[in-house]
Amino acid sequence: MTRESWHTRVGFILAAVGSAVGLGNIWRFPWMTAENGGSAFLVVYLAIILLVGVPGLLAEFVIGRRSQRNPAGALYRLSGSKSWGAVGLFGVVTGIVLLSFYSVVGGWILRYFLASFTGSYFGSPGAYFEAIDFGASAVGYHVAFLGLTALIVLGGVRDGIEKATKVMMPAIVVLLVALAAWAVSQPGAGAGLSFYLDFDAAYLQDNFADVVGAAAGQALFTLSLGVGTMITYASYLGDDHDLAFDGAAIAVLNTGVGVLAGLVVFPLLFATFGELTGPAAGGGPGALFVSIAGAFSQVPFGEVLAVLFFGVIALAALSSSISMLEIPVAYLVDEHGASRRSATLGLAGLVLLTGSVNALNPGLFTFVSGPLVDLMLTAGLAGFLVFVGWVLGRDALAEFDSGAGRATKSLGPAWLWSVRTILPLFLLATLALNLLALAGVSVF
Ligand code: PFF
Repeated sequence: MTRESWHTRVGFILAAVGSAVGLGNIWRFPWMTAENGGSAFLVVYLAIILLVGVPGLLAEFVIGRRSQRNPAGALYRLSGSKSWGAVGLFGVVTGIVLLSFYSVVGGWILRYFLASFTGSYFGSPGAYFEAIDFGASAVGYHVAFLGLTALIVLGGVRDGIEKATKVMMPAIVVLLVALAAWAVSQPGAGAGLSFYLDFDAAYLQDNFADVVGAAAGQALFTLSLGVGTMITYASYLGDDHDLAFDGAAIAVLNTGVGVLAGLVVFPLLFATFGELTGPAAGGGPGALFVSIAGAFSQVPFGEVLAVLFFGVIALAALSSSISMLEIPVAYLVDEHGASRRSATLGLAGLVLLTGSVNALNPGLFTFVSGPLVDLMLTAGLAGFLVFVGWVLGRDALAEFDSGAGRATKSLGPAWLWSVRTILPLFLLATLALNLLALAGVSVF
């Protein structure tokens, strides 16, 4: 059987942007920004996207396209070593772990999307969220969200993922632009804009290590790095693609959507409440579900705006969750000869269980969605970079060059140098700091 592939270049780019744009941009990014000094965080985050994110993305693309395999099969085949195969398999497992919490949040989003039609949470958003966040209802909506995810993945690369993301991504951008234009024109929105966009050097100086740590974790999460999603998606590519160009386009589009989401969230919160209040002030998952949902209850046509807002997030979440499920599906299809159908259904069954455990355990959910995921992504990407830099070496450069234009080709050597040296070191330092923070040791 011939391996599946993307139908068009735009289809691949939109699918990869679909993976990148998700809850990370709209749910996680605004609260990480709020928690870490607003503009100070934004500046560091943008720098890390450019200096670490884009080269990391290209490293995953190179592995995927060269091997035409899932992460585990890719690393094993390109090196002939079982230990490297295990590094790839770690990514496959990370995909399952990610989906096990992501689908719970996706379920909350579905619930809020439906509840926005009637404004059921408008009276007391805090109490509403507390009543549904964990428990039987969370399990039910998680299962519904997972079902939608599996349905798209069942359709395959071209007819499922590519077709779905080609419709979803433009819809997300159009709706977000409209919402941002509305939010910034609200009276009082200016204070939100300046919190978000005026650079606060003093804050950055006082909290440098924390801001860098948080921004690095967020940058990997938002670009879907360290799991092997981008390896898997690039494995469905031919060698006529300019990887560096596609990677830059994906990073720019993803960052644009994140920044746009901030232009909806901060002006809206400041225009409604005059400051960051409730969970939005302290960050945390409640920022979106309590503070922002609450803000909709205070503005004219709040129901309509909330339906649009949660509709955008549901689409964004779904285009990311399909990329998580696709990693282990590709693994079972490539390495164990499974059919797409049985792989998808079997894995959905597994995540139905693991996700339900998260949906019933707030403590576990918080650990998995925060520190565990940060650690796994950082370790995973460090492994992929060392592999590209030291195992593939010159071959990586040849793969980078294949299909590249003259301008992008000239960047290859600098890219390979950074992948061999400073980038893994940066990630290992971040990993060590994260581990120490988890053990309760504060270094700075
Ligand atoms: N990039 C997605 C988001 O920002 O929501 C999350 C994600 C998807 C992370 C796929 C990792 C991944 F493999």
